[in-house]
Amino acid sequence: MVVVGSQWGDEGKGKIVDYLAEEAHVVVRFQGGNNAGHSVKVGEELYKLHHLPSGILRSDKLAIIGNGVVIDPGVLLEEIDGLAKRGKSASNLRISDRAHVIMPYHRLLDGAEEQLRKGGRVGTTGRGIGPAYSDKAARLGIRMGELVDEDLLAEKLSFLVPLKNKMLHVFGSEATVDEEKTLEEFRQYGRALKPLVTDTGAIVDEALSKGNRVLFEGAQGTMLDIDHGTYPFVTSSTTVSCNAASGAGASPSALDEVIGVTKAYTTRVGEGPFPTELSGDLQECIAEKGGEFGTTTGRSRRCGWLDMVVLRYAHTLNGFTGLAMTKLDVLGGLDEVKVCTHYEIDGKKLTRFPSDLRILDKCVPVYESLEGWEDLDSARLESVLKGGFDSLPQNLRNYVRFVEKESGVRAALLGLGRRRNELLDLRKKRW
Ligand code: IMP
Repeated sequence: MVVVGSQWGDEGKGKIVDYLAEEAHVVVRFQGGNNAGHSVKVGEELYKLHHLPSGILRSDKLAIIGNGVVIDPGVLLEEIDGLAKRGKSASNLRISDRAHVIMPYHRLLDGAEEQLRKGGRVGTTGRGIGPAYSDKAARLGIRMGELVDEDLLAEKLSFLVPLKNKMLHVFGSEATVDEEKTLEEFRQYGRALKPLVTDTGAIVDEALSKGNRVLFEGAQGTMLDIDHGTYPFVTSSTTVSCNAASGAGASPSALDEVIGVTKAYTTRVGEGPFPTELSGDLQECIAEKGGEFGTTTGRSRRCGWLDMVVLRYAHTLNGFTGLAMTKLDVLGGLDEVKVCTHYEIDGKKLTRFPSDLRILDKCVPVYESLEGWEDLDSARLESVLKGGFDSLPQNLRNYVRFVEKESGVRAALLGLGRRRNELLDLRKKRW
């Protein structure tokens, strides 16, 4: 099973993965890096994860960082340490020897590139993601298997650091990277992580051939995909479901189900187009109630209505077998809830998300208005969690049915609160 975001990230994938991981034997992250931020609430404890797969919180599952991920080893070690301080071990973690390392020069280049773009800033997370993936494609990357080999690391840094310092200079940055210090620092990271670094594709393959269930955990969202998103305002990896196979080292035949995580409204962090973006009091009210501040950068997220053009487009790319609709509780208490059904451009109906941002800029979202539903207090929520779909407020049920009809995908899970158990599972059968 694959779990991916259908919007611009931050759909609440961490919580969904954490829930579904109960049914899995192995959880694998297959793309992105520490630009991702997953918040999972277990009891009263809130865990904020960036590198670690959300499956790490279930110690009986194997949690894997796959080959398609880029890793900042210092950040990863801090995260492992943070969990250990809260009594959670990362002994169930394995890291692909093919995953690429984010180096200090990648972070510096990320910032320098953004400066050069001036008006066209992407609004990256500044974690060095784009430059690390660029080096991977340019065959200038350092893989985890090389990080843990001290001689190979020294050899690579001996030409990469001078090269990157020259690039930083050309990009107008005054920052430089010290080769010796970097080598020492990264050798230590390599020593600490070496026991966890292995050919994780072989583990996934073995699990699948034994008939074990593997959950592929996506990061970011479809509209941030390097090919299919709102380029250039995207991340640097393939975020759609097909990459679960390549980024984990598995065959596409392993991707039996695809859950599209869809927030009940839309959010976006960073720059770039957002047709259904709201402004004013309503945007602030949703942002406040939904806690829409980035887990990674703390930046406030832009909020808007649910966009069916985006969701239908995401379905064509991901092949959703079910939707996990999250944060439905956040819209509770509004008189009216809107959903964008299509765009209009010069009076003509447009149903497919355009690739050209100049066309997107001219699109006018057309909305269907639905009646809102009441807030669910804790007693009502408890009875809904016991009573199932039919005990939800009628207008909330109408909203879910409307989204299903417009997208052509059945709702599999409904998110009604922050806690692990505040989810309604509508699946006919477990995985
Ligand atoms: P980068 O991935 O740091 O290069 O950032 C590129 C774009 O993707 C920026 O608009 C970021 O805000 C956005 N982005 C990256 N990771 C996430 C995420 O996990 N959630 C939401 N937006 C993200």
